[in-house]
Amino acid sequence: MSPDASPVTSVLFSAERIAARIGELAAAIASDARRGGHRDITAVVVADGALIFAADLLRALPMPVRFRSVKMSSYGGLTHSSGRVELVGPAPDVRGQHVLILEDILDTGLTLTALHRLLTDGGAASLRTAVLLDKPSGRLTPYAAEYVGFHCPDAFVVGYGLDHNGLYRNLPMIGELRHELR
Ligand code: IMP
Repeated sequence: MSPDASPVTSVLFSAERIAARIGELAAAIASDARRGGHRDITAVVVADGALIFAADLLRALPMPVRFRSVKMSSYGGLTHSSGRVELVGPAPDVRGQHVLILEDILDTGLTLTALHRLLTDGGAASLRTAVLLDKPSGRLTPYAAEYVGFHCPDAFVVGYGLDHNGLYRNLPMIGELRHELR
């Protein structure tokens, strides 16, 4: 395949659709925070996948935002979960803070379940989760995010932060990865 050929078979979510949806998510998050009397929020961003989502979403929020990023143990190049998820490095200090977890995709639920438990144990005052994509077909443990960008079909997707073996995060849209690249 030539290096210029598209790595995706189809575009599931265009850059324009993503931008519009992020505006809606930011409005919902801001309105809930206002209603809850939260003067600021702490964004806990799951790196690397959620960095692009976070960059766009957080800049659309009107209130002051504290930024923390965490790294969770990852797929290691596989397109299905190993079932073991651990925090890499120290846990962020979120005691007494209103936390918004940002993740690129909710698939098995293992990453967010582990992170949610960790932040609850760390004394977060409140905890909500925003995911750009929710792939319910992959769930191994129940997890519901308060804010969901799009429901994702049972496909391996790349772009807008989502990778395969570290590649394709820079695609401006989200598409299904070509089978021969998996
Ligand atoms: P889970 O919910 O614990 O399975 O994990 C979510 C993580 O799995 C995400 O942060 C992604 O790194 C990865 N992941 C799951 N599905 C996909 C996909 O379709 N494309 C790229 N990464 C994925």
